[in-house]
Amino acid sequence: VLCVDGGISYEQRKNLQTAFQVLSPYVYEVSGGELVKTRGEKEALEDWFLSMHLGADTTVVGVGGGATLDLVAFFAATYGRGVPLLLIPSTTLAMADASFGGKCGVNVNGVKNIVGTIYHPTSILVNVELLLSLPRHRMASGLVEVAKHALLDSLAFVHDLLSSWEDCCNGNLECLEWLISKSICVKAKFCTQLKEDRHFLNLGHTVGHALEKLEGPTLAHGTAVAIGLLVEGIVGQRRGIVSQEVVDIITEVVKLVVPNPPLTRIWGLEAWKSALQHDKKKESGKPHVVWLHAIGDPHTVNGIGRIPLDESEVEYAYDLLKSFAVC
Ligand SMILES: NC(=O)c1ccc[n+]([C@@H]2O[C@H](COP(=O)([O-])OP(=O)(O)OC[C@H]3O[C@@H](n4cnc5c(N)ncnc54)[C@H](O)[C@@H]3O)[C@@H](O)[C@H]2O)c1
Repeated sequence: VLCVDGGISYEQRKNLQTAFQVLSPYVYEVSGGELVKTRGEKEALEDWFLSMHLGADTTVVGVGGGATLDLVAFFAATYGRGVPLLLIPSTTLAMADASFGGKCGVNVNGVKNIVGTIYHPTSILVNVELLLSLPRHRMASGLVEVAKHALLDSLAFVHDLLSSWEDCCNGNLECLEWLISKSICVKAKFCTQLKEDRHFLNLGHTVGHALEKLEGPTLAHGTAVAIGLLVEGIVGQRRGIVSQEVVDIITEVVKLVVPNPPLTRIWGLEAWKSALQHDKKKESGKPHVVWLHAIGDPHTVNGIGRIPLDESEVEYAYDLLKSFAVC
């Protein structure tokens, strides 16, 4: 069964149907975007599979952006106690990040990915030609996760990304293919190392997820993470851990992806603290972040890369966010 994101063009969808020889009753359309990541959408998929008498031997082929793939993979993980899954990402973000690593799930009451599991697809097929129908701002916001991988990897990767940013946003397939492959390799490295190392992939995401909780689905994931990278970086610089070079590079990425203030308003300190409380990585009531001493050099304490923020740092982060708000 093809479970296809509604953002995919008619032409692309027909090509996929032909390639997989899928007859039209076995195509399920997911509307696409963050709003599909709900328990209700998963239930609707389950009901449809049951109504089509599809059993545990059915292969699910998820095609779409990160949100659709998170939903479809979570469905595949639990339907019939797990059915074979193949993923075909169709956004920069899904190709460079979301389709790899096995994480999947849905949001509940605006809390990101709070119900989910780890379920690995049998195969992931990446074809950058699917990106040609993607709007420019989506292309750019997806590159933020590439930037996160570059920051965790090396200065050379960061330079390659910044110098080809414009070409990628203009749909240069060669550049996109190269950067996406590199990004996948970095993610694979962190996913296959010690469990503790996987937490480094959370760089920028504690603040990013809190912003998504406050702003709702209109704020693109990549934009939220870009602000998260910068705010977390500046807070870490104040603690004397994050270097000026790291902050400068993140500032450059933010300028490329966040041209106008993307936050609709500034919500109040209590709302900010409450949004941070939903951080899945929080321990003893404190949100945790990842900091880099330098590019490719994450900070650790006793081998652990998740650093708790104290009360004054949470408030400082809130003050920093004001420059991203319209009013
Ligand atoms: N599982 C993971 O490891 C992981 C990692 C990073 C991000 N994510 C998740 O990924 C999601 C963000 O993914 P995203 O940035 O791909 O956004 P998205 O999935 O919300 O898609 C954005 C929009 O693009 C449309 N679209 C999809 N493919 C298209 C195409 N080829 N042409 C035109 N439009 C297309 C979609 O219909 C949607 O409207 C978030 O929910 C985030 O939490 C998951």
